[in-house]
Amino acid sequence: MRDVIIACDFSSKEETLNFLNKFNNKNLFLKIGMELFYSTGIDFVKELKKEGYKIFLDLKLHDIPNTVYKTIKMLSNIGVDIINVHAAGGIEMMQAAKKAIEENKSKTQLIAVTQLTSITEEVMQNELLIKNTLIETVIKYAQNTKKANLDGIVCSPLEVKYVKEVCGSDFICVTPGIRFLQSSKDDQKRVTTPQQAKELGSTYIVVGRVITSSDNPEEVYNICVEEFK
Ligand code: C5P
Repeated sequence: MRDVIIACDFSSKEETLNFLNKFNNKNLFLKIGMELFYSTGIDFVKELKKEGYKIFLDLKLHDIPNTVYKTIKMLSNIGVDIINVHAAGGIEMMQAAKKAIEENKSKTQLIAVTQLTSITEEVMQNELLIKNTLIETVIKYAQNTKKANLDGIVCSPLEVKYVKEVCGSDFICVTPGIRFLQSSKDDQKRVTTPQQAKELGSTYIVVGRVITSSDNPEEVYNICVEEFK
């Protein structure tokens, strides 16, 4: 089950296909986020699925329950492997998303973002006025997600151990914020290496710029797989 997901943060179909053509391995798990989805739309997602790629559609929905319900109703019909919402939307919103999946009898897994890996405790407390600690907030959002009967969460590898203690070992933990020791953190704050993420119990690691900005992305991808397997 453990796998490496490549964040395809590109702005066009051409750029994405050029990137994917650099891989001999076509058995890849790709993450399509807002940038690529808003520029290429649903047809490109279907095309990539048809090519055999596994897809995590990372649209991080956060809206009123009815809007999220109707959106998930549409998105869970296209056969993607994982889609997500923000746990900050609340339990009722997450339950509405889950209802859409169940009504469609969809196999798509539904997960929720707890706190973005670019957020520090200081920002959370001083800008967002969430006075608890970051770890308490992530655990609470994970519990809310579990209560709404979703399949798992997105968090930093640094929080996985605590989440699994309260939500169980089967609860999926998708973890971005992956960097090698020598690489730049960019805008990420709560980061680990692929190997640390494995040791901490992540189910999937999401790796973007470390792979996409490399001259040999397949080589870097293989290093991630090797460390994470
Ligand atoms: O380039 P990098 O490895 O930092 O990319 C991480 C990816 O994971 C980005 O596509 C980002 O949108 C996504 N992500 C994240 N933190 C979350 C959820 C998703 O960084 N909590």
